[in-house]
Amino acid sequence: MNAVPEHVSIIMDGNGRWAKARGRERVYGHVEGVESVRACTEAAVEAGVKYLSLYAFSEENWNRPEAEVNRLMELMMEAIHNEVKTLLDNGVRFVVLGNRARLSDKLNAAIDRLMEKTAGCTRMTLIVFLSYSGKWDILQAMKRAAAEKGAEGIQDMDIADFDQYLVTAGIPDPDLLIRTSGEQRISNYLLWQCAYTEFVFTNTLWPDFRKPEFRAALETYASRDRRYGKVK
Ligand code: IPE
Ligand code: IPE
Ligand code: MG
Repeated sequence: MNAVPEHVSIIMDGNGRWAKARGRERVYGHVEGVESVRACTEAAVEAGVKYLSLYAFSEENWNRPEAEVNRLMELMMEAIHNEVKTLLDNGVRFVVLGNRARLSDKLNAAIDRLMEKTAGCTRMTLIVFLSYSGKWDILQAMKRAAAEKGAEGIQDMDIADFDQYLVTAGIPDPDLLIRTSGEQRISNYLLWQCAYTEFVFTNTLWPDFRKPEFRAALETYASRDRRYGKVK
C-alpha cells in the first residue's frame, strides 16, 4: 500500500457538461465547481496531503468565448476574496502558477495579496494553475536557464537543475493526478512533472466531485504499484 500522496493534482473538467445536463448556462457549472474546490481542499487537508494543485485555466482556455473567460476570471476574484479566512484557519498556503503576464493587473494584485497573507501557512499548499500550459512552462524554463547560464553553463545542467527553472521549482512532482469528466488526456498540463505520476480517471463531472470522490481516488492510489522502472 502506498502512503497518502504528498502531492495530489486535479484536472477539474466537466463543468460545462454538468450545467448543460441541467439545462443551464456553462458558467453555472463553473460556479458549482468552486464548491468542489472547497470540498477537495478540505478533504486533502484532512487526509494529510501536503500539496494540492488544481488546473483551473489553461493557456488554450483563452480561446473560449470572451464572456466565459471573463466570468471564469471573475469567479477567481470572488473565490480569492471569499476564501481568505478559511485558508488561514486551515493553515493553507495559496500559490498561483502560470503565465501571469496574461492575467489582469487587478487579478494579479489580488493573487499577490492572498499569496502574501498565507505565505506563513505550513499545513498544506494549494496551487492553482492559471493560464498555464506544460509546453509553455518547459519553454520559459529553457529561456531563463539560457539567459542565466549561457550556452556553456547549459551543457552542465542535469534534470534537477532544470527543475529549478520550471514554475513548480521547489514543489515535488505530483504523486497522483486525477482527471474528472471521463476525458483521458493531459491537455498540456504538467508534462515534465508527470513523468512518474499515477493517473486516476473518473467519469464524475467536476461539480459532483466532492469529499467521498476525493477519498476514493486516494484509495485507488494506495493500491497502485509504483515501480519506477525497477523489477519487484
Ligand atoms: C472545466 O470544465 C473548467 C475549465 C476548463 C475552465 P469545462 O468548462 O471544460 O467543462 P466541459 O468539459 O465543457 O464539460
Ligand atoms: C483542461 O480542460 C483544462 C482545465 C481543466 C483547466 P479542457 O476542458 O480545457 O480540456 P480539453 O480541451 O477538453 O482537452
Ligand atoms: Mg472541458
